[in-house]
Amino acid sequence: MSRTLFVTTALPYANGSFHIGHIMEYIQADIWVRSMRMSGHTVHFVGADDAHGAPIMLKAESEGISPQALVARYAAERPQYLNGFHIAFDHWHSTDSSENVELSQKIYLRLKEAGFIYSKTIEQFYDPVKGMFLPDRYIKGECPHCHAKDQYGDACEACSTVYSPTELIEPYSTLTRATPVLRSSEHFFFRLSDPRCVEFLREWVAGSNPQGDKRLQPEVLAKTREWLGSGEDAEANLADWDISRDEPYFGIPIPDAPGKYFYVWLDAPVGYLASLKAYCDKTGLDFYDLIDPKSDTEQIHFIGKDIVYFHALFWPAMLHFAGLKTPDALNVHGFITVSGEKMSKSRGTGISPLRYLDIGMNPEWMRYYITAKLNAHVEDLDFNPDDFVARVNSDLVGKYVNIASRAANFITKLFDGKLAYVGDTQAMQEELAAVAEQVANDFEHREYGRAIRRIMAHADVINQAFDAAQPWVLAKGIQTADDTTRAQLQDICSRALAGFKALSVMLTPVLPMLSRRVAQELFGETRDFQWSDAAVLPTQVTPFKHLMQRVDPKQLDALFEPPAAPEITPGGEPIADTIDIKDFAKIDLRIARIVAAEAVDGSDKLLRLTLDVGEGRHRQVFSGIKASYQPSDLVDKLTVVVANLAPRKMRFGVSEGMVLAASHADDSVDPGIYVLHPWPGAQPGMRIS
Ligand code: MSP
Ligand code: ZN
Repeated sequence: MSRTLFVTTALPYANGSFHIGHIMEYIQADIWVRSMRMSGHTVHFVGADDAHGAPIMLKAESEGISPQALVARYAAERPQYLNGFHIAFDHWHSTDSSENVELSQKIYLRLKEAGFIYSKTIEQFYDPVKGMFLPDRYIKGECPHCHAKDQYGDACEACSTVYSPTELIEPYSTLTRATPVLRSSEHFFFRLSDPRCVEFLREWVAGSNPQGDKRLQPEVLAKTREWLGSGEDAEANLADWDISRDEPYFGIPIPDAPGKYFYVWLDAPVGYLASLKAYCDKTGLDFYDLIDPKSDTEQIHFIGKDIVYFHALFWPAMLHFAGLKTPDALNVHGFITVSGEKMSKSRGTGISPLRYLDIGMNPEWMRYYITAKLNAHVEDLDFNPDDFVARVNSDLVGKYVNIASRAANFITKLFDGKLAYVGDTQAMQEELAAVAEQVANDFEHREYGRAIRRIMAHADVINQAFDAAQPWVLAKGIQTADDTTRAQLQDICSRALAGFKALSVMLTPVLPMLSRRVAQELFGETRDFQWSDAAVLPTQVTPFKHLMQRVDPKQLDALFEPPAAPEITPGGEPIADTIDIKDFAKIDLRIARIVAAEAVDGSDKLLRLTLDVGEGRHRQVFSGIKASYQPSDLVDKLTVVVANLAPRKMRFGVSEGMVLAASHADDSVDPGIYVLHPWPGAQPGMRIS
């Protein structure tokens, strides 16, 4: 039976470029979508940028641009990554769109009508230095549940508990390091603790899709049961959800509530629907038909393990009580690590997807490697460079691609490209069909590693049969050989190529471009492979073209090497040699307040500065900035000082540190000296890192 599937991946925050974790998620979903399409199912595969929220607003502010401009900049670079890795979304949208405003407000109003929304005045953290209510993510402190330190204000990364920032132990503002103060303000809440909601969710989490497969993986179900509790204690377990934020906020206005916006996590998942709606409007599909609770369309979300709470509790509850279809599956994956290390966005470790493409590495190698390591569980996956080289070179190229190069040459040279089989082929066809069916089933159930193991095991079978038949021995005397011997050689090679074709069909979701070349250039097909092509015997082959290069281990060195220093010399000087973070950490940079500044008798360059570095005493620092600053302009300003520089005895006294300032290497280009000045909110003594 043909299914209609609405498939999404998590909507990435639009304040950064894609990293390898995003690419892994998209590859996983893309493979699933391609495999389902090969079975004849209809798939609508959409994504979008998650544009709203405080981090994007604050980042745009710090760059002096509008949040829309910031979002547009990241949106513009998405296609290079997606096309580069052959990730074929049908549509890519944004949560900052008219569709999303309309749908988010509509869902909210329906929830309100159904009695799931209430408002109350709450005390909330306010940053007295920055002068705004602090978004959860800008408050850190100790997790009230597991006592992990430095956890964000909305959820604990160590134990996944979701809480309110006021529950944090020893909170601080990450914008200014100030201790936040409580201020009251009216907020809107979604009644997650409502008995109707708890009852609905308990049933929903245990449910199945129309095929009888569970909506949630066992470990995800177990987690949601922990959250939902059992028996009467559920209400105590589930906290109502604060869905509003006060201005200034980059988000969607709450109807009839001036100055209030939806918290980004309310409108973010609605973005799945907004993207689908935009796609439907573009293609003439009936959007409301697809998301009707009675619709046959299955709604499937691929997400990472960190955002299960939002997708397994809030999202189905929102949809259900707004009278819309709830998801049929949440496919949760673990995180990708690189050589066993967690990626860090801020430190930029991991693999840069763009660098991977830029240095000419084949995107299908990455797709193959990730596929080989994925399974249906919420397990982390490690990218290991040596393992990558081994799997691509010995399995993909050594076992699979090689079959074609070995067998096709005999056929094109000796038999004019014609395939012919001797005797019964039914057993072989049945076997190929059976393997392909199992592989298709593995893909459907996201047992990708198992699919690859099956494919490679069958490649071994084909190679062994080919080797055992020793076609090169037959080929030696072929000019004088009888018809039976010729037919025998042709049969051996034809069977190997039939096997190769079937393996190509099975690898189509993983290697869509290679598969297309095999189908069209090698076997003369006019369309891409379907699952049903696996057991159809090929009848001709064109001269073998090179299909896939091996990985050169040097490419992996290049992948992990920092990019070469740019040719341009910013500020007239080339960038200095690379240092690592440990070298940098040796320099103790601190915020300093200039308490006093005065000219130095006998020096036309120096000013004598008196600095407060938050130590309870003052320091004297001589600084060569006299040509650019009036002493009175500097007093009471904040700046940056190297606080652990060895004190230096100068003609005019001891200098206890160095104030940081910028200048051009060539002062005929720009004679200015520019003292560093931190953003408002920094306090004397804060460390700079
Ligand atoms: N904007 C939210 C999702 C909203 S969905 C309505 C968000 N964005 S994100 O950019 O931080 O993450 C997007 C996806 O990437 C999530 O599914 C997340 O789990 C996934 N990954 C982030 N880091 C990852 C790895 N290191 N490995 C694999 N996936 C990871 O969360
Ligand atoms: Zn915790």
